[in-house]
Amino acid sequence: MSTLRENRLSRYNKPMTTLIDGKAISSQIKAEVALEVQALAKQGITPGLTVVIVGEDPASQTYVSSKEKSSKALGMNSNVIRFPADASEDEVLYCIDELNKDNTVHGILVQLPLPKQINENKVIIAIDPKKDVDGFHPMNVGYLVSGNAEAFVPCTPAGVMVLLEREKVTIEGKHVVIVGRSHMVGKPLISLFLQKNATVTVCHSRTQNLTSVTQLADILVVAIGKDRFIKAEHVKEGAVVIDVGINRVDGKLYGDVDFDAVAPLASKITPVPGGVGPMTIALLLKNTIKAAKLANGI
Ligand code: GUN
Repeated sequence: MSTLRENRLSRYNKPMTTLIDGKAISSQIKAEVALEVQALAKQGITPGLTVVIVGEDPASQTYVSSKEKSSKALGMNSNVIRFPADASEDEVLYCIDELNKDNTVHGILVQLPLPKQINENKVIIAIDPKKDVDGFHPMNVGYLVSGNAEAFVPCTPAGVMVLLEREKVTIEGKHVVIVGRSHMVGKPLISLFLQKNATVTVCHSRTQNLTSVTQLADILVVAIGKDRFIKAEHVKEGAVVIDVGINRVDGKLYGDVDFDAVAPLASKITPVPGGVGPMTIALLLKNTIKAAKLANGI
């Protein structure tokens, strides 16, 4: 990746740390998705993704625009439905109902968080599980936990698994420590790593002696939303470190891992930006293909 960073790492008299290049791996996935879009086109199918956004949150607007741009670039049918911040729950639920019935829409994503007057759980449960490309519907959560391949897996944790797979990181038998227990990232990762026969430990804000636990990790995944929280003392030498955090500080992006302190210890590490971030959209596009195939019995 960045020459600057490589130069910095090579100063350490240790085996070189490998930067996991999420941008490059996400481009590979997008190229694979583009081939699938072409193959489906030959059968008269155009995968369709509709994103619903409520309100004006700038970060959410940016994410949604980039989802729209990426899906259009690959030849998908891409739509964004925008509601004002004071939209009612009923309006959003009605919209989802219409999208559920629309055969040209294969994937539905409601950008979170939603304004206070709208109950997120009600909205998520209203989405047809077969169109739930976010993998947040309780049916997909259940499928994931029980190891059913029909599950739509949430995009960010799915992206973490693809990064490890493409980097040829052995998971079986390894001790994976996940820091963070969110519905979107930490919890799905528990199931995904167990399916790969890892030993899984989950830490969170109430964990005592966090350092002593994270030091056990062969693979350390951090998703807590705290700027550069994980320091060298948390990491065992040679660990693979996956940083899911994206924290904006004074206009600059930082992960949940203090990269400069931790990178010299790690055998492999994801940078921020350019690590896990780009994978989320790539996996969303992959999930949309899965939904289009499912709808067409392929
Ligand atoms: N907000 C932040 N991340 C996500 C995501 O992965 N899906 C949705 N729907 N909203 C989000």
